[in-house]
Amino acid sequence: MDTMEAIFTRRSIRKYTKQEVSDELLKELLEAAMCAPSASNCQPWCFVVIKDHKVMDEIPRYHPYSGMLPEASVAVVVCCDLRQQQTIGYGVEDCSAATQNLLLAAHAKGLGTVWLGVYPNESRVNGTKNLLNLPEYILPVALISIGYPAEQRPRQERYMDEKVHYNQW
Ligand SMILES: Cc1cc2nc3c(=O)[nH]c(=O)nc-3n(C[C@H](O)[C@H](O)[C@H](O)COP(=O)(O)O)c2cc1C
Repeated sequence: MDTMEAIFTRRSIRKYTKQEVSDELLKELLEAAMCAPSASNCQPWCFVVIKDHKVMDEIPRYHPYSGMLPEASVAVVVCCDLRQQQTIGYGVEDCSAATQNLLLAAHAKGLGTVWLGVYPNESRVNGTKNLLNLPEYILPVALISIGYPAEQRPRQERYMDEKVHYNQW
């Protein structure tokens, strides 16, 4: 799949088959995530891979829109190491770029994903920190649910001329 096709056809997938995502494929997805741009190339991201369903199934207790997780093969928590972010605030943007890279790479490999927002929702940040025993300098930014798709969702046309301004507002 070429890059433009991956961008245009990626959709959030919330239903999965029982097929497991292999460790090799997961590593490729993490490599893609770590290829993202970051402020001053500081690469402040770190990842918690959750394969244990005893852990994954706890997430819907504090994250109200994560009901698809018990069906997923794996979840990845994209975190920012606050000691490594270059400029305050940019770390979250860096981790968002890594998240989108992972989503697109997964789609190109035939997997389905959903980006589950964590930061800046305080109860989701604290719930994730407590569940995963994160140190205080590790900020969970996003959760990604991953599995082989059991639903197909069509491409959406989202381009709007009126959202684009040239030279001035
Ligand atoms: C920051 C962010 C937070 C999101 N949080 C959730 C979430 O908690 N649960 C969920 O099911 N989808 C979540 N989504 C996915 C959006 O609902 C989805 O991207 C949007 O509806 C557009 O659909 P698409 O991904 O199929 O293009 C989130 C997406 C982003 C970017």
